[in-house]
Amino acid sequence: MEKYVITGRRKLSGTIRMSGAKNAVLPMLASTVLAGEPCRIIDSPRLRDVQVMSDILSQLGSVVRRYETDDGRKALLVDTTSMAEYEVPEPLMREMRSSIFLMGPLLGRFGKVRLSYPGGCAIGPRPIDLHLRGLRSLGAVIREMHGYILAEARDLKGSEIHLDFPSVGATENIMMAAVLATGSTAIRNAAKEPEIIDMQNFLNGMGARIRGAGTDVIRIDGVKRLSGVDYHVIPDRIETGTFMIAAAMTGGEVCIENCIPEHVESVTAKLREVGAEIKEEKDRILVRGPSRPRAVDFKTLPYPGFPTDMQPQAMALMCVADGISVITETIFESRFNQAEELRRMGAGIKIEGRTAVVRGVETLFGATVEAYDLRGGASLTLAGLAAEGITTIEGVQHMDRGYDGLDRKLAALGACIERIREDR
Ligand code: EPZ
Repeated sequence: MEKYVITGRRKLSGTIRMSGAKNAVLPMLASTVLAGEPCRIIDSPRLRDVQVMSDILSQLGSVVRRYETDDGRKALLVDTTSMAEYEVPEPLMREMRSSIFLMGPLLGRFGKVRLSYPGGCAIGPRPIDLHLRGLRSLGAVIREMHGYILAEARDLKGSEIHLDFPSVGATENIMMAAVLATGSTAIRNAAKEPEIIDMQNFLNGMGARIRGAGTDVIRIDGVKRLSGVDYHVIPDRIETGTFMIAAAMTGGEVCIENCIPEHVESVTAKLREVGAEIKEEKDRILVRGPSRPRAVDFKTLPYPGFPTDMQPQAMALMCVADGISVITETIFESRFNQAEELRRMGAGIKIEGRTAVVRGVETLFGATVEAYDLRGGASLTLAGLAAEGITTIEGVQHMDRGYDGLDRKLAALGACIERIREDR
């Protein structure tokens, strides 16, 4: 197992470049199943989740190769032309619930797919009813057996679909199943996240005919086949927000490059309320942290509201704020796992259902804590940067799922953070 060892109270300063967006690359990797030719995904971050999705594609008969472009960008070459399998391997399905993204493209390509139920995870049961309802609406016959799902569709037909909730994954899965369907599909109450727009652009680059991503209604006109595409992924807005909060928490001054300020507007607005000075440029954001953050309230909402993937990081920030903050998590059932660990560092947090009341303290104190999920681990890392003394964070494999070199990037900004292997 590996852990972070952080010596806190160092002001971050300097410039850091963001990596490509995890939550854009994962569905794009799944949609290469629909391509009759190789695809290149440029600025693909080196993450555990990207590796798992690549391993699944390889096990289904594809060729996935990591490489660097001439201008030094990390990239993936994916060739699914020799793919023949439509059964997603159980162990890999269990390891990453985003494998559910393969359902739509495998149905679109093979008219058949077998996969186990994606595991729930630390932040909630993660149901897939909206995915299944959307695919059934396109004509898939889905049998939910004990522990696994078998779906078949001789030919998918376009349909009018209304999502009960603007689910990111369900929106993407339906998009991928609809691109090769006969006729037109409309997805109403669609998710509007930037990753959905990136997905539309990626699929249209392959020859799909999609419009409306980023709005409530996405329309897809089915086409006969899709070609390969070379595509640059958008920067990761959650990594961007995480580094913005790192600057705000340490009273530092950080320039974040390769980001899209519009994608983190809700985070910028909140950090300005907290007292940070933020300057937005075309693809850079400069953040100067306050000497002490003011307490403000947070409520997570679908995009463009404050992102649920930034809630644990916001909680860490409020732990050292001047005042009392109320944080409401409206998206996931149990996304406060980090609270118990933050309390071990001296935080004053009271949880009532989906609401956390945080009474800010002057100082957090270093402690040995454990990460239980990706963004909870990021939250503890940020708390360690601000805390007095040494913080040891176990469970770094969680951070590796969604951050490409979190410790390396923080150290480059002056943080005293080490990643050490613990042989237990
Ligand atoms: C995506 O997950 C992201 N993952 C999550 O990021 C992110 O937190 C989430 O969207 C919300 O923005 C990827 O893109 C790989 P949802 P997804 O479907 O698609 C309920 C991270 O940290 N729901 O929008 O699973 C669900 O239970 C990860 O990077 C149903 O009820 O999210 C949840 O309460 C964590 N039925 C809510 O909708 C369904 O069929 C939002 O889920 C599907 C979802």
